[in-house]
Amino acid sequence: MADHVLSNTYLDALKDQRTGFAMVFILSGLVNVLMLTGSVYMLQVYDRVLSSGSMVTLAGLFTIVVILYLFLGLFDFLRQRLLSRIAIRLDVALGKPSYKSWVQSGLPPQSASPEPLRQLSMLRQFLSGPTAVSLFDLPFVPIFLAALFLVHPWLGMMVLAGACVAGIAAILGRVLTRKWQEQAAIQNNTLQEFSRHSRQSAEVLTAMHMHDNLGNHWKTMHETRLALHQNASNPSEVISAFSKTFRLLLQSAILSVGAVLVMQNQISAGMIIASSVLSSRALAPIDQVIGQWRAIGTAVAANRILRDFFAQIGADPQLVEFPEPTGRIAVKSLSKFSPQRGTQMRKALLQSISFDLAPGDGLGVIGKSAAGKSMLARVLVGAWQPDQGEVQLDGASLTKWQDGILGRAIGYLPQRIDLLPGSISQNIARFDPAASDADVIAAAQLAGVHDLINALPDGYASQVGGASGTPLSGGQVQRIGLARAVLFCPKLLVLDEPNAHLDGDGDDALDAAIMKLRTAGSTVIVMAHRPSAISAMNKIMILENGRMVRFDTKEAVLGGANVAPMVRTTGPTPIKPNGARPPLHPPHARGGVGTL
Ligand SMILES: Nc1ncnc2c1ncn2[C@@H]1O[C@H](COP(=O)(O)OP(=O)(O)OP(=O)(O)O)[C@@H](O)[C@H]1O
Ligand SMILES: [Mg+2]
Repeated sequence: MADHVLSNTYLDALKDQRTGFAMVFILSGLVNVLMLTGSVYMLQVYDRVLSSGSMVTLAGLFTIVVILYLFLGLFDFLRQRLLSRIAIRLDVALGKPSYKSWVQSGLPPQSASPEPLRQLSMLRQFLSGPTAVSLFDLPFVPIFLAALFLVHPWLGMMVLAGACVAGIAAILGRVLTRKWQEQAAIQNNTLQEFSRHSRQSAEVLTAMHMHDNLGNHWKTMHETRLALHQNASNPSEVISAFSKTFRLLLQSAILSVGAVLVMQNQISAGMIIASSVLSSRALAPIDQVIGQWRAIGTAVAANRILRDFFAQIGADPQLVEFPEPTGRIAVKSLSKFSPQRGTQMRKALLQSISFDLAPGDGLGVIGKSAAGKSMLARVLVGAWQPDQGEVQLDGASLTKWQDGILGRAIGYLPQRIDLLPGSISQNIARFDPAASDADVIAAAQLAGVHDLINALPDGYASQVGGASGTPLSGGQVQRIGLARAVLFCPKLLVLDEPNAHLDGDGDDALDAAIMKLRTAGSTVIVMAHRPSAISAMNKIMILENGRMVRFDTKEAVLGGANVAPMVRTTGPTPIKPNGARPPLHPPHARGGVGTL
């Protein structure tokens, strides 16, 4: 039974770093107290040393200052180091779950949530940078303000007012630029997506000489992005210039007020300089936060996105460990609706499909284009979840099985195969370190692709699927995809149009692989247009508009149903019900059961 524990991996990882954050806070307190050293020293030099002329006092004071500064340096280093470590620990704890969940979120219905890995890397950079440290200085600003109030309330009031003005300017800047910044970020993503897709379609663009048109289209989008960036930075520039000038003016104003206070004998001369230093210490973290407003905003947004992303996912369910399945398949009233959300009714892509298969059965699913064959394949292997009904493996719904067991029990060859960046051997091994070379070679031999791979210059080590493209033909990719699907001789093998790119030899290799797996007790389901793909099957299902209109033994179906229009009569190797291939131009090749 799945025990869905509601928990947020991100918040849990943050909680694990509580002690680290507390240490950074304590160290920040110590650093900020020690930052008063300079002001106190200045006060003592002006008011005690200069008036008494005592070298011994000066030397004693200086020694203390050196020691205090050494501690200041040490504590400052330690808190920065601690923050960097926290950032790395968070990244390590959340990297894999973020990657896994991000890939899984590619399944429909897709949400437009920003990529968590990018957010995680932004958060890491922020935490290990100087801005995070200045955020920890912020709670200690009152210490400096209090010290200024102690020197004289006027000075304290002035700096407090200065801090408020700077804060208001920052908030104003944020409010004025927020809308533009958000739009600029969206435009930025659109532009990146467009560039990425254009590059992927480079062949088509070159063949049809579309570069110029696309270049113009890109330029228009790019200009919009630049305009949005400009709109976002206009108010920031004004506010940043104002803040700098205001800060300088405030320093001089403090000095002037200090001078007046000295003239009125309310404070000593040394206090003027000490208060100038204190005021700059009080305002420095505020200035830093204002200057880094955008970085802080990005980090806050990253924090929110990660929290929400992990809240949606929850923790992995705790599943009971079942023994290895035998391959008994039961499909119960399976329905799947179109994933689009909208005002219109969701279209039924699969409607109340039920059937059973015993281990060793081979089912050929045939139907016209858009009948729902690929959709059924996706639901059967658990890539998409059914909206109604369930797919059971050995009497238990697929969702009840542990990932590790299902990974070895299911083989799937999608209609559109994408090999992942890596070597052919890694792709066939499904990147499973437990898959030995012998497993990989056995799978390749079963799929009849071993010799083809060996004929490549780098053999099994050939790199595929990367930025430089795949140096393989469509048929080779399909056969490597088949090898990947048959790795570990899965108990349930679902092949979607497995022979779409295969030649006669490929077809034979496919049939042989299917027969071998079926003999070994695997249940094989093949979705097909072309009749040659179902020659190694013993059962046939006919799908029409997502409905199962026929499910029977191959002999029974091919003996009566008119399935010919559903399959390409121009296919290169039509076969007869008994699996034998007819001559290339049979006398009754069109219509009726003759083509199958
Ligand atoms: N990602 C998707 N989102 C929404 N609808 C989809 C999606 N993929 C397919 N469909 C719809 O599901 C229906 C069945 O498509 P499916 O790909 O299963 O057909 P098929 O029988 O495999 O066709 P073909 O023989 O051309 O591969 C179609 O109406 C299609 O529009
Ligand atoms: Mg299909």
